[in-house]
Amino acid sequence: KVGMNVQDLAKLLHRDATEIIKKLFLLGVVTNQNQSLDEDTIEVLAADYGIEAKQKEEEDVADIDRFFDDETINEEALEPRAPVVTIMGHVDHGKTTLLDYLRKTNVTAGEAGGITQHIGAYQARLNDKLITFLDTPGHAAFTEMRARGANVTDITVLVVAADDGVQPQTIEAINHAKAAGTPVIVAVNKIDKEGANPEQVMNELMAYDLVPEEYGGDTIFVQISAKFGQNVDQLLEMILLEADVLELKADPTQPARGSVIEARLDKGRGPVSTVLIQQGTLHVGDPIVVGNTYGRVRTMTNEKGQDIDAAKPATPVQITGLNEVPLAGDRFIVMADEKTARAAGEERAKRAREEVRNAGSVVTLDTLFNTM
Ligand code: GTP
Ligand code: MG
Repeated sequence: KVGMNVQDLAKLLHRDATEIIKKLFLLGVVTNQNQSLDEDTIEVLAADYGIEAKQKEEEDVADIDRFFDDETINEEALEPRAPVVTIMGHVDHGKTTLLDYLRKTNVTAGEAGGITQHIGAYQARLNDKLITFLDTPGHAAFTEMRARGANVTDITVLVVAADDGVQPQTIEAINHAKAAGTPVIVAVNKIDKEGANPEQVMNELMAYDLVPEEYGGDTIFVQISAKFGQNVDQLLEMILLEADVLELKADPTQPARGSVIEARLDKGRGPVSTVLIQQGTLHVGDPIVVGNTYGRVRTMTNEKGQDIDAAKPATPVQITGLNEVPLAGDRFIVMADEKTARAAGEERAKRAREEVRNAGSVVTLDTLFNTM
């Protein structure tokens, strides 16, 4: 520190040298760029800036979204993570059958311990590579989560039955995927059925910019039978291939943050939530803010119902320890301590109540005008 001149200090504080000189002048020290400063002067200045910086940090403890919008990335800490996949498609085209098949063959098989629990998400494995599936098919869940700012899906698998073709909810699903900006992989399903016409599906989908590679486009199509498992491994392979292109990475060293997949109140255990970790590593004991509630992670279990102490990015886990039941799509972030988590959670709950109150008065006014 000793012997540092104004220019060095300016660099260190990311300020303009002229600003430093001006500030020093106000403190009664007349100086120029190259003059070295004594320790006391440096301390007074640093404290001045330090206090400012601190005030900014503490400005809005309830704004947890800023952590998600924070673009600072520590390149060195980045590690590849599993892709997060949502399955969408028209009613009865085979979404549940596909998820069930994947769960039966890729989740429980060969892995020790536990019965598969329904936690709203799970990981499938192919050649030691993991894929995270959100087990909440249906556009409502997808839309609800996106509406709350949770863009958790990396890849959409669009299931289209080969004996039924493109239907209204197929088109809806395409629009959702487009709005979310996720690539689409088409699973042409039920190819085992009589009357299945996969080519017809391919032709119909071209009208929606989903052009198969063999027709010169860049959309991956896989013909499957979810019921009999035909080509399902190939579908997983294609998902992993698409994931490679996306170069999905996350930093496991940060405080954990992510989104709620689903949540409910359990009589014995209190609020039970399935969360997807998107950055960082979540630990048992972590103080956490989730949507408009908060708590401390009391227990953490994986999809096999096994207790775990820590979970890395793209892992879905079920946690207990929150004060209230959060909503699907709520974001969570781990805080420095329980006090901060509580303050943030309570402030967020208060603001949410105010918002409801304000919205309520608008509705009343509206109603008034409408009845006039
Ligand atoms: P919703 O949840 O109602 O939107 O339907 P879904 O898309 O989840 O469809 P689901 O998996 O329930 O399948 C509907 C029906 O199609 C069931 O009777 C399945 O057994 C049947 N099915 C699904 N996939 C296949 C398949 O590959 N081949 C045949 N033959 N039948 C299938
Ligand atoms: Mg279903």
